[in-house]
Amino acid sequence: MTSSLVAWLRYEVIHVWGLVMGMRAINVGNLDAGVDAPAVPTRAQLNQWGRAAYANLWADIAATLMPPDRPMQSGRGLEIGCGQGEGLGYLTTATPLDWDAVDLSLAATLISRWRGHRVRRAASQALPYADAAFQVVVAVESVMLFPDAQRSLGELRRVLAPGGRIGLAEFRQAGCADTRALIDAACAASGLRCLSFVDRTEAARRAIIHGEPARAALARWIPGFLRRHFADTLSLEGTARHRRWLDGSHCYWSAVLARADD
Ligand SMILES: C[S@@+](CC[C@H](N)C(=O)[O-])C[C@H]1O[C@@H](n2cnc3c(N)ncnc32)[C@H](O)[C@@H]1O
Repeated sequence: MTSSLVAWLRYEVIHVWGLVMGMRAINVGNLDAGVDAPAVPTRAQLNQWGRAAYANLWADIAATLMPPDRPMQSGRGLEIGCGQGEGLGYLTTATPLDWDAVDLSLAATLISRWRGHRVRRAASQALPYADAAFQVVVAVESVMLFPDAQRSLGELRRVLAPGGRIGLAEFRQAGCADTRALIDAACAASGLRCLSFVDRTEAARRAIIHGEPARAALARWIPGFLRRHFADTLSLEGTARHRRWLDGSHCYWSAVLARADD
């Protein structure tokens, strides 16, 4: 099996598991500062932390796209890698835009459609939309999965309308300063520029650590032969990824990009 087939199958399994277990936000989650996290959070709370990643990202986009004296009234938005549509649920109610989305996973596409969203099964590197069709394009924790990041960024740039914004949120096994430099270089090669960059590592680390008991309980339902494979993805205690969140060698960032020629 090729690595891209394994990567695709992995998300089919994750989304079916998420549907069965009620895990709708398949992301690290950005627990809001000041929230008193319970010792053992519920699935609903994990989903709420996952939605907070979208709320934080939207606040960044709105701050650069819609100054208070020029609020956006309408337009189109596109999410890349929408998963089960939990973030789309937030975006469609909290923003004035009309949202489309794509995901590579068949399970994710069907679940999101069933939840009432307009989703196509497509890949970031070949978006089935016209040039300059969207005022906003967002991707929450799918950027790291793009098989050809440069080509995908070029596609995001192609479908972005003049004056529009791209919002990205992602984690990475590196420091935020290195990541910022990488984004600037990738933008320069794709006709984009980075308008803002936010280090969200602390909020993500809090969500990971506080959510550990709930995720460990959910992981017990994963068949034994698959559990080891997904333990690291879930950042469960004892895994390399869990250690990296604790020792600060994993960062979480969000960025807002615009066309370089704007
Ligand atoms: C970590 S999940 C995040 C899902 C959702 N954004 C959320 O926060 O709940 C990543 C998603 O990206 C999708 N994905 C991976 N590679 C992709 C690609 N090249 N184009 C579009 N979607 C992709 C996966 O199928 C998966 O649903």
